[in-house]
Amino acid sequence: MSATPLLNVRGLVKHFPVKRGLIPKVVAQVKAVDGVDFQVLPGQAVGLVGESGCGKTTTGRCVLRLIEPTAGEITFDGQDVRALDAAGLRALRRRVQIIFQDPYGSLNPRRTIYETLAEPIAFHGLAQGRAELEARVAALLTRVGLDPDYMGRYPHEFSGGQRQRVGIARALAVEPDFIVCDEPVSALDVSVQAQILNLLADLRRELSLSYLFIAHDLAVVRHLCDVVAVMYLGRIVEVGPVDAIFRAPQHPYTRALLSAVPVPRPGGRPDRVKLEGDVPTPLDPPPGCAFHPRCPIAGPECSRTAPTLSPAAQAGHQVACLKA
Ligand SMILES: Nc1ncnc2c1ncn2[C@@H]1O[C@H](COP(=O)(O)OP(=O)(O)OP(=O)(O)O)[C@@H](O)[C@H]1O
Ligand code: SF4
Ligand SMILES: [Mg+2]
Repeated sequence: MSATPLLNVRGLVKHFPVKRGLIPKVVAQVKAVDGVDFQVLPGQAVGLVGESGCGKTTTGRCVLRLIEPTAGEITFDGQDVRALDAAGLRALRRRVQIIFQDPYGSLNPRRTIYETLAEPIAFHGLAQGRAELEARVAALLTRVGLDPDYMGRYPHEFSGGQRQRVGIARALAVEPDFIVCDEPVSALDVSVQAQILNLLADLRRELSLSYLFIAHDLAVVRHLCDVVAVMYLGRIVEVGPVDAIFRAPQHPYTRALLSAVPVPRPGGRPDRVKLEGDVPTPLDPPPGCAFHPRCPIAGPECSRTAPTLSPAAQAGHQVACLKA
């Protein structure tokens, strides 16, 4: 693996203004992403994990410039993503694709699978004419484990898992290097989740893909990712190699998330940490360490001082906690 990052994100901020009144005025900001740094090396899979609303999707959408970041730097293969013009963005979208959580909502119900898959191939000039397009669509369907004879069918004729395979085929259609996988298995039955995760792992190996893999659940990223970043209220609170995060989690929030991972043992883990309370709103994050209202080991300093990411024992492992 080369050490030059394919994707490099520095100080990413995305605030959504909240407007009120007859003549709308900005009355507050939703601090969805509030200073996020991470990188993805070529061929690497980086997991981005955290509870609902912590800013995972917003981070992923900023990387693709589906939304404009408020501040920060994003470079993809050395290019400044924020400075790209329309032609540059088009080239970026060929190399960086996204797979959505809801494969049904993200597929047009009135288009056949052929139409859905052939459109991006034709748009990027990767094949011309019906015969060439059909051959490419057939190859894509085979690659994701679907019968090419299905290309004339509509999304409603498929199961959830099959629809997600179509979503993956659509992302692969333009031969990307990098895929943002936004909770691609959360909406699927548990039995189907493993099949889709295995497919994504195989594709990564065969096609040398890099992933930013977004998930609620640490268990989902364990076997697929090399590095895991744990997010809380718009910030990364812990990041490190997947084995370090599972073997020696340093942040109380990561420990709590790990305790929520089902373990096939009666009684669960001996050091089970319960997460009490709801996630505070990103409209008004708590001062100091944003996790302090829910942290089982918080001290008085935690509501005054905001911790920053600093190195833990293992290389590449970093944690933002005053007591770690
Ligand atoms: N377009 C928007 N306008 C205003 N607020 C938004 C917008 N998009 C997201 N938010 C808010 O930003 C915060 C982060 O949202 P985001 O969708 O990134 O979270 P998430 O981690 O992906 O959550 P989930 O696990 O539920 O998908 C949330 O509080 C959300 O309500
Ligand atoms: S800084 Fe304090 S509140 Fe935040 S995680 Fe560490 S101990 Fe808990
Ligand atoms: Mg999301």
